Order: sequence, then C-alpha cells, then structure tokens
Amino acid sequence: MLILGIETSCDETACAIVENGTKVFSSIIASSSDIHAITGGIIPENAARRQIESIIPVIKETLDKAFPKSVNLKSQVSYLDAIAITCGPGLVGSLLVGIETAKTLSYLWKKPLIPVNHLIAHIYANWIQDRDLLSVDSKPSTDGGQLMFPALALIVSGGHTDIVLMKEHGNTEWIGGTRDDAAGEAFDKCARLLGLSYPGGPSISAEAVKCSSESLNLFPRPMINSDNFDWSFSGLKTSVSNYVKSNPASCKLKLPELASEVQEAIVEVLVTKSVRAIIKYKPKSFFLSGGVAANKRLRESLKLSLKKLEIAPSLYVPKTKYCTDNAAMTASAAYFVNNKTSWKEIAVNPQLDLRT
Ligand code: KG4
Ligand code: ZN
Repeated sequence: MLILGIETSCDETACAIVENGTKVFSSIIASSSDIHAITGGIIPENAARRQIESIIPVIKETLDKAFPKSVNLKSQVSYLDAIAITCGPGLVGSLLVGIETAKTLSYLWKKPLIPVNHLIAHIYANWIQDRDLLSVDSKPSTDGGQLMFPALALIVSGGHTDIVLMKEHGNTEWIGGTRDDAAGEAFDKCARLLGLSYPGGPSISAEAVKCSSESLNLFPRPMINSDNFDWSFSGLKTSVSNYVKSNPASCKLKLPELASEVQEAIVEVLVTKSVRAIIKYKPKSFFLSGGVAANKRLRESLKLSLKKLEIAPSLYVPKTKYCTDNAAMTASAAYFVNNKTSWKEIAVNPQLDLRT
C-alpha cells in the first residue's frame, strides 16, 4: 500500500510517499526556520504564509522523486492508494494549509484520506525502514511491529513531552507528560537566554559537546522524585534567566559549560522518569521520538541507563532526519492506524493530544 503523507503542523512543509508504513520512496521537507531564526522563535502567521508558498512545489517534488519515469502527474497519482494528513496538534494556520490541500487532492484524485495525530506520527518514525537500531539484543521485526508490543513511547518535541503505553497499533494510553513547557521548548527558550540561535536544541548540543567538565547540577531537576510520570520545564528557563542576569559575561562558566548544564538538566529528568516507567510497565520496546530525540546526549544516556536494567526493553530511535517533523512518519502512522475518513469529515484540531 502506497501512501502519500502531508505534514504542515508547524514550520515544516513536508510530503512523503511510503510503502506499507516502512519503506520511504521519497521524503521532501521545506522549512521556514530561516525566518524564525531572525525573530528568535516561531511567529505563527509567518509560518502559515510560508506553508502556502511551499505546499504545492513540495508535493510535486515528492511525486517526481518517487516516480521519476512517470510521463505525467496522472500516471504518478495512479500508484497512490491513499493520502495521509496531519490534523493536529499544531498551529491552526499551518495545519489548515495541509488539510485543505489534502482534502482537495483527495476529492480530485479520488483517493481515501487518513487523518493522523502528529504525536502518534512521531512514534511511527521508528517504523521507517532505515531506522537506527540501538538495542544490543533485538532484531527488527518483520511483522509490522506486532512482536514489539506492549511498548512505551516517549515523545519529546518542541510543543509536547508525553509518555504513552502502546498496547497495539492505534491503542495508546497516556501515562504522563509535561505540566508546562515541553522539552524542546525548554531547549529553545534557554538557547535564546544564552544568546544561541533558533532552533535551540541543536545550538545547545553543538555548544555542549565542547564542554569537557562534569555537570555541576547548576540548574534544577523539577519533579525528578515525584511519584508520577510528569515533567516540568518552565522553572529551568527561569533559573537560566536568573543565572545569566546575576552573572556577568566574564563569569567562571563559559557558553559550552552553561549549554551542557542546560542539556544535562533536561536529559536527566527525561531519562530518570522514562526508566521508572519502564520498571513499572515492563514494555518489550521503548520508542524515543520527536525533535528532541535527535539529541545525542539523550540517546546515549537512555541507552546506558537501559543497559543497567535487569530486564530492558529494546530501544528504538529514529534516524535523526525522521526525529524532527517530516511526512514519512505521517504516512507510516496512517498505514498502521488506517482510519480512513471522508474528506467532508476531516477537521483541523490544533489542541489534539494523547490524553483522551
Ligand atoms: O518534533 P519537532 O520537529 O517539532 C514539533 O513537533 O514540535 O521538534 C522541534 C524541537 C525544537 O524545540 C528543537 O529545538 C528540538 O526539537 N530539537 C532538538 C535537537 N534537534 C531538534 N533538541 C535537542 N537536541 C537536538 N539535537
Ligand atoms: Zn513534531
């Protein structure tokens, strides 16, 4: 089954064609991060305007790359079985560009439409065939993943931090999440306070690798000992802000040390709570996903912590290019969840979450 996925939830305009939820034929992403780097964060209106400019060229490029020998659009489209579209959560203006385009194409091309929750899509980045298998003891499943359940999935993105129990495809139970800022948001806001560019996660980790000293635990690890699977990151930015204000640029700690302190504070609470959830739920697999899953320190720290467990799940981490927003994961989720819906019933849902 060949699915064309469209993803426009935030500042990426993405389209991909994926076979049977795993094999990527083509995946094209146009990002508007250049304009958000100027403003130091996303202005939704700017993101939506860029979505409108990019959507048709991105879809066309995806089709051309997947079917280079096809003589025309009609023959390219004839190979497709369905269209997958992100319905939320995200920025309403950005989401609408993708949704209205997908509905129009579904109607014109007479293809079924599959709505996808963007957070679920992030988890399915782990099914994409050229994934990195970090686990020492597991082999990639050949059955579409049924053997990997029950699984725990940690979704760490710019807008969300959630941990869910996945019993089978399409069956997720939310067990915890952030009470305020998301992990990626914490990276972005702290980077800004440190004078680093947007997006903050890659900027902070690029500085942090230059640090050779041990962590001083300079910043707080909120809720690390709480009896639940929730996180809180808003205190971190306040703490970084206070530190920057009360310490002159000539202070003892330089940028690499400060970046590393921020990264350690975020990674430590994510890993500690994830390990505690693994001990409680005993999953067969653990899926890391979302933009922050691209963070090398987080990947390494999780891998090391799981190695220390007596019974550890297989750890799956998508390739870096599938951690941040892309449409291959959207098409993959659509294949496995397969909730075909008439275009008339598809609606934007910016507040969609995993709690219900
Ligand atoms: O999943 P994503 O592309 O978009 C949302 O759905 O939000 O995540 C974007 C977030 C940004 O906050 C960005 O700073 C963070 O992912 N990010 C990283 C890294 N690469 C991207 N955070 C930490 N380390 C990275 N290497
Ligand atoms: Zn995302």
